[in-house]
Amino acid sequence: MSSFRTIYWQDNKVVMIDQTRLPNEEIYLEFETYEQVANAIKTMIIRGAPAIGVAAAMGIALGALKVNTDDWDKFVDEVNKITAVITATRPTAVNLFWAGKRMQRIINSGESRNVQDMKERLVKEGQDILDEDIATCRSIGIVGAQLIEDNSVVMTHCNAGALATGGYGTALGVIRGAEEAGKKIKVIATETRPFLQGARLTAWELDKDGIPVSLITDNMVGHIMSKGMVDAVVVGADRIAKNGDVANKIGTYSISVLAKSHGIPFYVAAPISTIDYDCPDGGSIPIEERDINEVTHILGKKIAPDVNVYNPAFDITPNANVSSIITEKAVVSDPYLKGLSDLIK
Ligand code: MRU
Repeated sequence: MSSFRTIYWQDNKVVMIDQTRLPNEEIYLEFETYEQVANAIKTMIIRGAPAIGVAAAMGIALGALKVNTDDWDKFVDEVNKITAVITATRPTAVNLFWAGKRMQRIINSGESRNVQDMKERLVKEGQDILDEDIATCRSIGIVGAQLIEDNSVVMTHCNAGALATGGYGTALGVIRGAEEAGKKIKVIATETRPFLQGARLTAWELDKDGIPVSLITDNMVGHIMSKGMVDAVVVGADRIAKNGDVANKIGTYSISVLAKSHGIPFYVAAPISTIDYDCPDGGSIPIEERDINEVTHILGKKIAPDVNVYNPAFDITPNANVSSIITEKAVVSDPYLKGLSDLIK
């Protein structure tokens, strides 16, 4: 388990480590309203697909607690509005919508039409989603550890660690799982411009937990691979289409191309909740465009003239570049359409 907490529920508040201030400051913030939680997701105080799923569920619970009515229909109407605000914060990670649907399912289950009971039920569901996420990541770690050889060097991109989930991590869960199975692993973390999740978050969390990590900038990947310094790549995912195409942090696609051309296995680790069975292929996944200041500025300092800027936050790795997808149930390889659909049979 990691030595810090990403998100938790306490005294009818949501508490999160502020990921915008890491690695220099380890600060926990308390959120009392769903609007504050929505803003935390938007501004990346919390980020990473499973973690924002947990935040969405807890944000909806927080909003529901504050709805001031005993009238069931009015209550449902208000919770629907809260859910719409929370799920509109970021478009790519499917976990946000998955969590919203899961909270709606509790309301529509017919378990109760009593507002006070339902408020408690929604709070419990948020906490259950967190606990399940940690357990799921541990299973991903156990399943994925088999693919990682002793004494290997694993490259990862962005942060798919404890900070990006309820705890433990998906890609970093595989690394933690391999370590717990007694294997010696070294990690190469890419910096991950423009938001620097690799440098600021992955390097911090691995170092804090005593897992050896070396940091490189994104443009060093090809060189490092060509020198035979990488045995496997493991990344997370924000959404996986039902054909196995993967949306993940911008730069993932380039790394997959380089891995393929160097014959290095490229693994994607993600919970089954990240698979969007309504999405036929990567081309149908919406790609978030973020503020251009993330590209033109570094830590608040302007580093570029006023020119046109692109800032897509994610890219699509085609299934042909993915050696295997590691889930909590099984490792799935080509043909993905069948393998991924078998996971939910
Ligand atoms: O923009 P971010 O930091 O939310 O992007 C995060 C990623 O791309 C992660 O790799 C992905 O969400 C998987 S996290 C287990």
